[in-house]
Amino acid sequence: MPLFEGGLQIHMSRYFHFKSLEALRREVRRLNLSVEFEASLRMLLEPVAVLDRRVGNALVIHPMEGCDGTPDGLPDELTFRRYHRFATGGAKLIWCEATAVTEDGRANPRQLWLHDRATDTFARLVDDMRRLHRERFGNADDLLIGLQLTHSGRWSHPRPVLAVHDPLIDRVTFLRKNNQKAPLPADYPLISDDDLKRLEDRFVAAAARAYRAGFDFVDIKQCHTYLLNELLGARTRPGIYGGPWENRIRFITNVVRKIRDRVPGLHVATRVNLYDGVSPDAAANGTPDIRNGFGIDPAHPHQPDLREPIALIRTLVEHGVTLFNLTLGSPYYNPHLGRPFEKPAPDMRPTPEHPLIGVDRHFRLAAAVKQAVPNATFVGTGYSYLRQFFPHAAEANLRRRRIDLVGVGRMALAYPDFAADLLENGRLDPRRVCLTVSFCTALMRRKDNQLGQFPTGCVPRDALYAQIYRSLPRRS
Ligand SMILES: Cc1cc2nc3c(=O)[nH]c(=O)nc-3n(C[C@H](O)[C@H](O)[C@H](O)COP(=O)(O)O)c2cc1C
Repeated sequence: MPLFEGGLQIHMSRYFHFKSLEALRREVRRLNLSVEFEASLRMLLEPVAVLDRRVGNALVIHPMEGCDGTPDGLPDELTFRRYHRFATGGAKLIWCEATAVTEDGRANPRQLWLHDRATDTFARLVDDMRRLHRERFGNADDLLIGLQLTHSGRWSHPRPVLAVHDPLIDRVTFLRKNNQKAPLPADYPLISDDDLKRLEDRFVAAAARAYRAGFDFVDIKQCHTYLLNELLGARTRPGIYGGPWENRIRFITNVVRKIRDRVPGLHVATRVNLYDGVSPDAAANGTPDIRNGFGIDPAHPHQPDLREPIALIRTLVEHGVTLFNLTLGSPYYNPHLGRPFEKPAPDMRPTPEHPLIGVDRHFRLAAAVKQAVPNATFVGTGYSYLRQFFPHAAEANLRRRRIDLVGVGRMALAYPDFAADLLENGRLDPRRVCLTVSFCTALMRRKDNQLGQFPTGCVPRDALYAQIYRSLPRRS
């Protein structure tokens, strides 16, 4: 029997059918996984020292693009709506979404872009968040707000910007013209070393604007196979930004050093991939010929190799970075790694593994990194799949020092005031949790309107996005 949520047919869960924490525990044991749960919640709701602040609880809203900016990159009506909901939701760290530092680094025509004329609008967004949080909870001194700065690299729209060629990934990278995809030619040029040098300064300029706008920190995004992530794994790139380790970390260490010199009041954090993974095509062919990629040992590409991610984190700690948000994979070719899901978006494959295996991978890799670098502060990922039970896994990870802060992405779109509910009622409402059925990803992938991009949000739980989803043009 299909499930109906918000008037939409969702489907019956193939994997997630747990009515109790005990049933979920049994499945974890059956799969031989190491996810643990605590029945009572304590540490999750207590203050945590982060940067120079004590944030009011350990709950973080991950960066979640809404694809709803104006054509010139300013936060627009739906952007404000989303962050107003997050600000009154009770999580004490709001990690604002991927915001491009250059126009050609946007992944879609409605991605936020922090240029000079945009700074005032970003400042209004930050002011609104602090004011609304204060009105709702009496105090915003324990609320931390950061902004993720990015260049989308090979996923930039309409022209990909490549750090390195990789046959398996080039195969799923496209040029776009009039909403048509064209394959990438084999001789497509790489971004030059000179352009990368100039781009370092664009990150610094955007960081200075973020500081003026009132953000507490910027995240220099190095995940999900966007440009800086690709540079970290660009073993076959020639020149000063590729090949040996020192070259591959040149861009990020330069940017961090320059921001700390030129914008001394601003904290620098980073969201980083611990393992890029391989594409399913590559996975299907035994041991593929992988030469690039981060957190990957080319001889054993199917297994994460944390040596370089840990070395990077240690290097960045020496450069004064103390806050890291840990994540995995590429949303473009192995989304099950980053966001374990029940049902894929229409143009994606079904999950190749039980989603709980993906949750377990997130938790295990983050715990290994925390153990290796105990003095840094880490935000963990992979919680939304656990629905109303996620706080219990979060509490277990906090108590065992496997993580410092717990982030949710899709859960925050579905249930923006999940933290307030936890604080006030001690539990989440199962009727409001994220179902991981990928409508948000589906909306994000749709480009067939005048603006070249539909906005995204939670279709099953938010009537506004159900309406947008129903109005999508039918595909022939
Ligand atoms: C619609 C959508 C937008 C996202 N936007 C971003 C983003 O701007 N930056 C980022 O680092 N990750 C982004 N992500 C990934 C999430 O932050 C998060 O890592 C992922 O959804 C897994 O966490 P969850 O299981 O709690 O959802 C996005 C994911 C989705 C589904």
